Amino acid sequence: MSDGLGSDFRRNFAAESASLLDIGLYGNAAAGPQPGPDRVKRAASGRQAGGASMDRIRIVGGQRLTGTIPISGAKNATLPLMIASLLTEDTLILENVPRLVDVIQLQRILGNHGVDVLIAGKRPGDDPNQGRTIHISAKHIVDTTAPYDLVSKMRASFWVVAPLVARMGEAKVSMPGGCAIGTRPVDFLIMALEKLGVEIEIEGGYVIARARKGLRGGEIVFPKVTVGGTHTALMAASLANGTTVIENAAREPEVGDVADCLNKMGAKISGAGTSRIVVEGVARLHGARHAVLPDRIETGTYAMAVAMTGGDVLLQNARPELLQSALDVLAQTGTSVTPTNEGIRIARNGLELAPVEVTTAPFPGFPTDLQAQLMALMSRADGTSHITETIFENRFMHVQELARLGARIQLDGETATIEGVNRLKGAPVMATDLRASVSLVIAALAAEGETMVNRVYHLDRGFERLEDKLARCGAAIERISA
Ligand code: EPZ
Repeated sequence: MSDGLGSDFRRNFAAESASLLDIGLYGNAAAGPQPGPDRVKRAASGRQAGGASMDRIRIVGGQRLTGTIPISGAKNATLPLMIASLLTEDTLILENVPRLVDVIQLQRILGNHGVDVLIAGKRPGDDPNQGRTIHISAKHIVDTTAPYDLVSKMRASFWVVAPLVARMGEAKVSMPGGCAIGTRPVDFLIMALEKLGVEIEIEGGYVIARARKGLRGGEIVFPKVTVGGTHTALMAASLANGTTVIENAAREPEVGDVADCLNKMGAKISGAGTSRIVVEGVARLHGARHAVLPDRIETGTYAMAVAMTGGDVLLQNARPELLQSALDVLAQTGTSVTPTNEGIRIARNGLELAPVEVTTAPFPGFPTDLQAQLMALMSRADGTSHITETIFENRFMHVQELARLGARIQLDGETATIEGVNRLKGAPVMATDLRASVSLVIAALAAEGETMVNRVYHLDRGFERLEDKLARCGAAIERISA
């Protein structure tokens, strides 16, 4: 891609992202016909300073869900995959990329380093439910600094430190700062880079990473399983001189997806998906084409929505092995879970929901990113459930909001006790973070009357076309502006 394209492209891209945000990420011709106007109304969205939409979502509960929901590409694979493009001068082509605010935010961050991102237009025969194809070229890295005002909007962007220092020998990246669900330090990521010979300085809220002579292979032992730490180590070690062994690595499917893509780019990674990964460094990585795996958290979220309202829905493109522990818990509640050739069929007809005992854990354990959704579901169970959160120390922000809908939840340290109730009642509620906000949507789908979910910009970060997907299956849901 020539420089000539660069600036025009950035102008077009800015226009593109603004228009995507304006029409709420939905107006993509590839998405095909939308559900009838009576179910989904969209008004011009009011804007907060800095562009965050003040949209709200209005839900009238009580509708069963029936039909098909196409599962999008995984947010938590797309972000590290896009960041991996910084490792090569060649073009990385990613398919099945979801239309999410976090993806646009990351395009801005990569653009700041000089990366061009081309969004492929519609092609004949395109499946409207498939994500988009993007061509990412980091041929010219013109800036190795990731500024606070960009990184602070999306924590995962801190991971650019790894490919930048591995390829360019230096990087200056803002520390991501605090987060609603926990302190979320990056000490393990820094430790991993230091094990690969990177000199690290922390100054003025920035991590300054240097490796003028390049990285060297080493042994990284994570004291605690960390997804971001494993992504960082994989990317950095891929261009290091020598062999790296990563112990107590994260086994999340998104880590496997990144390792697959890096191997297509010429890396030598073995053992991804296990807790011991070996990376033989190479001198250079090349371009590749890779399809993002389906989003297991989106899958689990819609599966719980169907269990909540009753109904029968096919989750198209979903892959059971990516979230088996969550599907096992759902089956314990009395919900029918049936893998099919097209995905997973979820049904609940008339049976009461049975209570469960669940503790979140790294993969293959029960994902923390489905904890809030399960809590919403258990608020209607026939009995008392216990959910223990072990990954993040402050991931119960949804409890008080669910209580506004009539849920009965007691907190005791890491454990929530949920006493199931016969009915929930609609009320205005406030979204606080991505997964907490969708737990409020799930509860509202079963609550009597109207619920207004405020601050849905949290939702747009990680759920593509949520109202459309639910409305297609019969939900009474609409997005409205402030
Ligand atoms: C990833 O975050 C996901 N984010 C999170 O999803 C997910 O909840 C989390 O993994 C756990 O599965 C993305 O993939 C973009 P960690 P990450 O490093 O990598 C502690 C969502 O809703 N820790 O595995 O930041 C940390 O505080 C998001 O999509 C350190 O102490 O999570 C936490 O307690 C939310 N020091 C634990 O480890 C470190 O240097 C696991 O965090 C790094 C982590």
